[in-house]
Amino acid sequence: MSSLEQRMHKVREQFPALQQKFGGQDFVYLDSTNTTLKPQRVIKRVEKFYESEASNVHRGGYQWSSRTTALYEKSRERIAQFIGAQFPEEIIYVRGTTEAINLVAESFGHSFLKSGDEILISEMEHHANIVPWHLLQERYGVQVKAVRIYDNGELDLEDLEKKLSSKTRVVALTACSNTLGTINPVKDIVRIVRENSQAAILIDGAQIVSQEKVNVQDWDIDFFAFSSHKLFGPTGFGVLYGKKDWLNRMQPYQGGGSMISKVTLEKTTYNELPLKFEAGTPHVEGAIGLTEAIEFVESVGWQDIQAWDQMLLHEATQQLKKIPEITIYGEARHKAPIISFNMKGAHHSDVAQILDEMGIAVRAGHHCTQPLMDRLGISGCVRASFSIYNIPEETQKLYEGLLKAKELLL
Ligand code: ALA
Repeated sequence: MSSLEQRMHKVREQFPALQQKFGGQDFVYLDSTNTTLKPQRVIKRVEKFYESEASNVHRGGYQWSSRTTALYEKSRERIAQFIGAQFPEEIIYVRGTTEAINLVAESFGHSFLKSGDEILISEMEHHANIVPWHLLQERYGVQVKAVRIYDNGELDLEDLEKKLSSKTRVVALTACSNTLGTINPVKDIVRIVRENSQAAILIDGAQIVSQEKVNVQDWDIDFFAFSSHKLFGPTGFGVLYGKKDWLNRMQPYQGGGSMISKVTLEKTTYNELPLKFEAGTPHVEGAIGLTEAIEFVESVGWQDIQAWDQMLLHEATQQLKKIPEITIYGEARHKAPIISFNMKGAHHSDVAQILDEMGIAVRAGHHCTQPLMDRLGISGCVRASFSIYNIPEETQKLYEGLLKAKELLL
């Protein structure tokens, strides 16, 4: 075993969910793009929260609440540092990527957009980065346009440049496609957008956060959204990063406790950032659990994470290519360990079901990217996605499972 293999086997041992059996078979989890499994230290950290720290925050004057509030705000500083934000108050706690994008669409739309303005997305976006903009289309008459992709799954940067104009107010793109695995060149995108428009740039970071070190200042983007559960942290919690200048000028998203400065029966004035965007009792254990997950990720290290992920992607791709009936969707040069495919003559759900009977969990369907399915001319596909706890033996099991599916279905 190489030293990388030894280190990654130690990482794998930290994930208790992998000890399970399904139908007497070892659990092969190949759906990390959907959600990642949780390491023991994150589970223990959340358990500790419920044992001794589960007070409300920013609402109790007593020592117990003050201590938890301090932990909760320390988490904000750690998260800011993790994504390279300049100020902790630029970190807004939300339910996940979906809520983060809805917040920007709603608040930015209310504050700045009018009929005739344009929003630029792309053909590879997740519904979470399409539908919030369609809602604005209905409400304010803005126009949503989509940048094309090439057949290999890469973004067409010439088309991006062509579609930008003085009317473009927001460019909202994913850094990594949840279906194709394509990792987009964010720095090039930002350069092109800045040279050709005054648009604000939102990056959907749901998939990229587990793939590479993100630095929002280095990218020079205006908004960045990601979910804790896709980064080995608790479900139901996520982060919106926004440049202070934008956030200060945007309307609050929701009204309620904490987001106010003063309320009379006639009128409300709002709190400062970040609380202005955080109405109601928050997901405290989400923030604390995500912070633990960040410590975990950084202890594994980006170099090992990327080397391991790319090895798994390469092995699995080579194995799938040995089966002539399989078509892979998306072969970008820079790609996350996500492989979407179909088996000619078999329905994607049937393939996924046979794999499930062998203990192999994959996702089948449109993967919340129906416009991309239309672009590819398919109704759905199977998706196998890998993470740091997967091992080469599992890519082999996927290959064997697909041979079995072929035998049964074709
Ligand atoms: N975005 C998640 C996925 O791609 C839900 O499966």
